[in-house]
Amino acid sequence: MIIEILTVLPELLTSPFEHSIMKRAQSKGHLTIKLHQLRDWAINKHGQVDDYQYGGGAGMVIMCEPLANAIDDLQKEEKFDEIIFVTPDGKRFDQKDANSLSLKNRILIICGHYKGIDQRIRDLYVTQEISIGDYVLSGGELAAAIIVDAVGRLIPGVLNDETSALTDSFQDNLLAPPVYSRPVIFRDLEVPPVLLTGDPKKVEEWRSTQAIARTKERRPDIMGE
Ligand code: ADE
Repeated sequence: MIIEILTVLPELLTSPFEHSIMKRAQSKGHLTIKLHQLRDWAINKHGQVDDYQYGGGAGMVIMCEPLANAIDDLQKEEKFDEIIFVTPDGKRFDQKDANSLSLKNRILIICGHYKGIDQRIRDLYVTQEISIGDYVLSGGELAAAIIVDAVGRLIPGVLNDETSALTDSFQDNLLAPPVYSRPVIFRDLEVPPVLLTGDPKKVEEWRSTQAIARTKERRPDIMGE
């Protein structure tokens, strides 16, 4: 899968993908991440990509031309499967969205800044508008990083048995059950005895009961979705 990101701050997006599972996904050839500096398509030699908004009001808007020219150039040879704009007024991102994006071949994520991007780019090019939550970030880069991480780890072949996504929270509309490691007793708190029985069926039953109880208590909204 190829994920391309269009941003005025590509520097913000180097480190998040240089470690752990994202690093392995790239070195194993499952994921290619390409960062594009939007100012390479600026309207003048000063690197301008934004301007005041019509109608007045505080805050600059990223203009049509740099974005349209960038997108046209980037998909000259092959079209993107999805062009995503990350924005607080988009659809709230969830695990189902991550699952379905992980099956695409090539996507573009556009990061906004200031007051956002000209509406006409959203009308003409954008196929999905995604928010990572009900709060406003200073720019779309951290939202893009979160989407790439959530999607990248689901690309077939990226995770192995040990890191399998099948037991993740949300994968079956349930939160994950609690987990324990050594020692058996820590500050008077004991590992639940069933986990020490070596009986996979009992362990599975316990985990399922715990997952259901935790979800009922913390996130009843996701059950039976
Ligand atoms: N850009 C600024 N805030 C955002 C959010 N909550 N989700 C996605 N993109 C954003």
